[in-house]
Amino acid sequence: MEERLQKYLAEAGVASRRKSEELIAAGLVKVNGKIVTELGTKVDPKKDEVVYRGQVISKKEVEMVYIMLHKPEGYVTTAKEQFGRPSVMDLVRDVKERIFPVGRLDYETSGLLLLTNDGDLTYKLTHPKHDVDKTYHAKVYGTPDDMDLQMFRRGVFIDGVRTKPAKIQIIEKGERQSLAEIKIHEGKNRQVRKMCEAISHPVAQLKRVATGDLELGDLPKGKYRHLTATEVKYLKKL
Ligand code: URA
Repeated sequence: MEERLQKYLAEAGVASRRKSEELIAAGLVKVNGKIVTELGTKVDPKKDEVVYRGQVISKKEVEMVYIMLHKPEGYVTTAKEQFGRPSVMDLVRDVKERIFPVGRLDYETSGLLLLTNDGDLTYKLTHPKHDVDKTYHAKVYGTPDDMDLQMFRRGVFIDGVRTKPAKIQIIEKGERQSLAEIKIHEGKNRQVRKMCEAISHPVAQLKRVATGDLELGDLPKGKYRHLTATEVKYLKKL
């Protein structure tokens, strides 16, 4: 059956679907010996030969891997880092397959980060129309009162746009800082930090503890594990 070239590349583990579109547009992909830059191009996996950077891309040879990493603070989630800062890719060096992070976490944020070579799943999980809840533990300055919490839950304005309703619960009150559990399903840039700023309780520390039903649990910081078959099945069903 024919399918779109970018989907084919993503499923073969070359890159995410969006990144694959860029690779095609940049003229790095050949189909049957000819460079193709048209994004709608259809290929028949049985008949057509797809080549990326001189390598024949075949879907069957690629083993799909799904990894959960406990990202430490002080790591970027991009593969190429212009300022020489450590990358999460340094922590998964012993994985043979060419995996990439599913979405982003800020440099200063720690916690659950999924990495995979399944570009199709990455596309689904990061697409705004798929509302996967992400749960964060945020240490915030001060203690938000009921009004603050109500504002947060209804949605606050960040960069001129109102955020969708979110969940927040204070799970620990301290003298200077409190610990809040926050659930959002959007993924705007620095969203949790900006939402907390909007209620005047800025974040001191931020950790993602769950993506949907997948929990970080007691995975040590800097370590990764492969997802179980049940977890992979769950993600694919989302
Ligand atoms: N929200 C943030 O502000 N930062 C993250 O890393 C993730 C969500």
